[in-house]
This record gives sequence, structure tokens and C-alpha cells, in this order.
Amino acid sequence: MPHIAVVGSGPSGVYTAQSLIQQGSLPDIRVDVLDRLPCPYGLVRYGVAPDHEKIKSLQGTLRTVLQDERIRFLGGVEIGPSLPPAKLLELYDAVVYCVGAAADRRLGVPGEDLPGSWSATDFVAWYSAHPDARDDGFVRDVRSAVAIGVGNVAVDVTRMLARGAAELAPTDMPQAALGTLAASAVRDVYMVGRRGPSQARFTTKELRELGALPGAEVVVDEAELILDPGFRDPAALPTAVRRNVEVLRGWAGRPRQGAARRIHLRFFLRPVEIVEGRGRVAAVRFERTRPDGHGGVLGTGVCEEIAAELVLRSVGYRGVPLAGLPFDAGLGTVPHAAGRVLRGGLVSPGEYVAGWIKRGPTGVIGTNRPCAKETVSSLLDDLAELTGAQERARDPLAGLLAAGVRPVEWDGWRSIERAEAALGLSLGRGSVKISDWAGLLSAARGPSGA
Ligand SMILES: Cc1cc2nc3c(=O)[nH]c(=O)nc-3n(C[C@H](O)[C@H](O)[C@H](O)COP(=O)(O)OP(=O)(O)OC[C@H]3O[C@@H](n4cnc5c(N)ncnc54)[C@H](O)[C@@H]3O)c2cc1C
Ligand SMILES: NC(=O)c1ccc[n+]([C@@H]2O[C@H](COP(=O)([O-])OP(=O)(O)OC[C@H]3O[C@@H](n4cnc5c(N)ncnc54)[C@H](OP(=O)(O)O)[C@@H]3O)[C@@H](O)[C@H]2O)c1
Repeated sequence: MPHIAVVGSGPSGVYTAQSLIQQGSLPDIRVDVLDRLPCPYGLVRYGVAPDHEKIKSLQGTLRTVLQDERIRFLGGVEIGPSLPPAKLLELYDAVVYCVGAAADRRLGVPGEDLPGSWSATDFVAWYSAHPDARDDGFVRDVRSAVAIGVGNVAVDVTRMLARGAAELAPTDMPQAALGTLAASAVRDVYMVGRRGPSQARFTTKELRELGALPGAEVVVDEAELILDPGFRDPAALPTAVRRNVEVLRGWAGRPRQGAARRIHLRFFLRPVEIVEGRGRVAAVRFERTRPDGHGGVLGTGVCEEIAAELVLRSVGYRGVPLAGLPFDAGLGTVPHAAGRVLRGGLVSPGEYVAGWIKRGPTGVIGTNRPCAKETVSSLLDDLAELTGAQERARDPLAGLLAAGVRPVEWDGWRSIERAEAALGLSLGRGSVKISDWAGLLSAARGPSGA
């Protein structure tokens, strides 16, 4: 009976497990899906914005996979120094690492670490109730906020800052974050790109949503659109980009409506410094850029400051090295060939990667499905050799327990779900996420959490 470990229960981990049971046509295959968190689904639970209920509902699809009798969820199991990859290889025929890209890219400008300057990763983790998140107040005493970057994560955090409490209350966001955002005095949110609108990474559906928020209006300066060569000849642009430019052009031509909150979409501004005032963030200094004719930009030497008490740096995620696995620090990924982990350029038998730790932090949930399939094809091609290499009589769980691991199994996760439903009921809301380790573990294992 081949026994495979999948490390990480985000989309790539779940799609890998699904592919293993579907693609392999091996009726006796067993897959353990391990995650350091007691809760499954990775960024679908801890990244997808709470007001995107339709996308959040994908958790239902992932759940169906994890409930298959050949798959076992083992939460609260962190692979790292105390349970290294070499130990997993002793217990399983093969291991697929689907650990995502949990850290943020740095901007590399002065003032980046001032109080009030956070990565979008921090802010997202907070409103998503990730148990490692810190509650830093974020929007307390903030009237003006700047999101640096024009990808979909920047759109998410901009939207969360501009939404009113009435729209957030029906979501599953933690009560403390809801209270903080409900009391927010943020009036202006600036989302700023260093290049032009036709190089922005956001998608049109997400962009349009900014223009449909109750009590908020979008402000676009036509002059910044005109700078973009794509604006002058939209017909030459790919359809998705042309749609973005059309949406922006529509907003630029609209008179101000006097809404309570304003979302300013700014372009051709490269961050050069986060400016301090009274010991914390007071503004962001940008250098005006202009197109270089090849999709990039050149500095003009002209600077502009946008006053802000909060800065969210939303310039992309970054993979984190996992002790005992090779890591390409430049790319932030694990080196691989069609999903097979490479150590010193050579295939490491039995070790695989899928998802963001394989490709880097780009792509929507669905992108991880073909990525996982490719990895599983490689694994299945190798499987006869891997299972022939050694006899494994024991259930790997016995080996994990002997190594001191105390997993939260599926019943434990179901208990967390019930506790979150009960918490929501007590607050007069729908299900509300538990945001701390102690609360999650006591819900999963009983009051002591032990
Ligand atoms: C803020 C944000 C919002 C997004 N919103 C959308 C959206 O609305 N729609 C969309 O289609 N896509 C969205 N995406 C993209 C989508 O979330 C990713 O494509 C997808 O989650 C990547 O899947 P993954 O499995 O590689 O990583 P992840 O989803 O990050 O899963 C990795 C898992 O590995 C676990 N793990 C990490 N290290 C270890 C370890 N050492 N031991 C054990 N377990 C470990 C983690 O706990 C986690 O559960 C969003 C991304 C972000 C960052
Ligand atoms: N609703 C959804 O479907 C959804 C929601 C969230 C995330 N996602 C997906 O998740 C993935 C990650 O999203 P993301 O927004 O984190 O990353 P992203 O799409 O790569 O966007 C990163 C942004 O940061 C900018 N940037 C990078 N370095 C910078 C610097 N030094 N100074 C200024 N700006 C800088 C980039 O500009 P340049 O282009 O100039 O480098 C880009 O605008 C994407 O594939 C995204 O589509 C999807």
C-alpha cells in the first residue's frame, strides 16, 4: 500500500491529494495531508478576503476531497527542525511539499520598518484570523492609508479599508478585527503603482468591485492614464488589460460624488522613502516615473509625497526556506524538475513540490490544479521504484506519534468548525473565526488544548 505525505493543506496540497487518488488508479493508495495549522485550506481560509464569500465557498470543494476515505488530514504538524524532511522520508514512500509562500517581499526603501508600515501579509493575516497574526490596531487613528503595489492583494486590502462595518459584519472575520475596522476613521485610501495602468497586475473583476462599494468613490487622475502608451492605443492591448484601462478611464471621466471614503488609484509613482513624523509613518515619498517604451519605467527625479498614517506594502509574497529542504533564495522556491525536488541539481528520490513553493507566489486557486497534476504525474512515474526501495509495515501515523507529534485529525477540525459556529451565534453573527492558538487547540482537543 503506497503511503504518500502531502505537506500543506492549501489548494496545491488538496489538489495534489485529489490527483493522487484520481490519477493513480491505485485503489490502495493512502495520502496523509499534514499542515502546521489545526485548520485546513491554507490561503483559502487565511488569505482570500472575507467579503469574497463565493471564493471562500471553495472550501466546500476542498473539504469533499479531504473527506475521501483514502485521505487523512493531520493538522498541527509542522515540518521543520523537530520533524525534518528526512524523518518524513523514513515514514512515507514519497512526500510532496505544498507549503506555499508565507512571507512578504521587502521594498528596500528607508522607513520600511516604521510603526504604521506593515506588509499586506500582516494585515491580511490579522483580518483572516491567522493564529500567528499580531493585532497591531492597524487602522487606529488613521485617516489616510497607502497601499503600495497594484496586484489583487493590494485591491483586497484597499477594499477592506474602504468597506463599512455593515458589509463586514456578515463575514466570518474575527470579532476584534471587525470592531477595529468598524471604528475606523479612514477616509482616503491610495493604491499606488510604480508603472502604468496597462502594467497593473489586478484583474478587471476585482478592479470593478472597488467602484461598487457603498459609501466610497474611486478617484483617478486622467493625466496619469494619458502617460501610459496603452491608454493612447487601447486596441493594441491584450483584452484583459484593455478592460482594466477602460474601467479606469470611466472613473477618470466621472465628477466627484462627495462620498464618505475615497479610493485614489495612482500610477507612475515609485516609492523611495516612507517618511517619519512623531516616531511613526507620516507620508510616503514617491518619485514620478515615465514609461521607457518597453513596459518598464524611468525615474524623472520629480518627487511627490502622499500623507498617510498607515502604509500597507503589497508588493508580493515570498517563499520561506524549510529546514532540510533545498531552497533557491533568489526565486524563493524549492528547485525542481517537473515537481521532483532537486538537491545539488540532482533529483532527490521521493521528494516533490507543488503550488506556490514550486512556481513562486503567482496564480489564482485554480492555477494550482494543473501544477499539482504535473507533480503527481512525476511521482506516479517514480512510484514503483520508490515503493520497491523499502518495506513499510507500519502506519506512518505511529511513527509520527513516536516522534512526539500530536496531530489534530479531521474530528478535531470539525470541532473547531462547531466552536466557530457557536461563537458566531453568541455574537449574533454567522460563523466567526477563532484567531488564537489556544482557542483553536482547546476547540479541537477539549478545554486544556493538550
Ligand atoms: C491575500 C491573498 C488573497 C488571495 N485571494 C485569492 C482569491 O480571491 N481567488 C483566487 O483564486 N486566488 C487567491 N489567492 C491566490 C491563492 O490563495 C493561491 O494561489 C493559493 O493559495 C496557493 O496555494 P498553495 O497551496 O501553494 O499555498 P497556501 O494556500 O499558502 O497553502 C500552504 C499551506 O502549507 C502550510 N504549511 C506551510 N509551512 C508548513 C510546514 N513547515 N509544515 C506544515 N505545513 C506547512 C500552511 O499552513 C498552509 O496551510 C490569494 C492569495 C493571497 C496571498
Ligand atoms: N481575487 C483574486 O483572484 C486574488 C486576490 C488576491 C491575490 N490573488 C493572486 O495572488 C497572486 C499574488 O498577488 P499579489 O498582489 O501579492 O502579487 P502581484 O500580482 O505579483 O502584484 C505585486 C505588485 O507589487 C508591485 N511591486 C513589486 N515590487 C515593487 C516595488 N519594489 N515597488 C513598488 N511596487 C512593487 C508590482 O509591480 P510591478 O508589476 O511593477 O512589479 C505589482 O503591482 C496573484 O497571482 C494574484 O492574482 C488573486
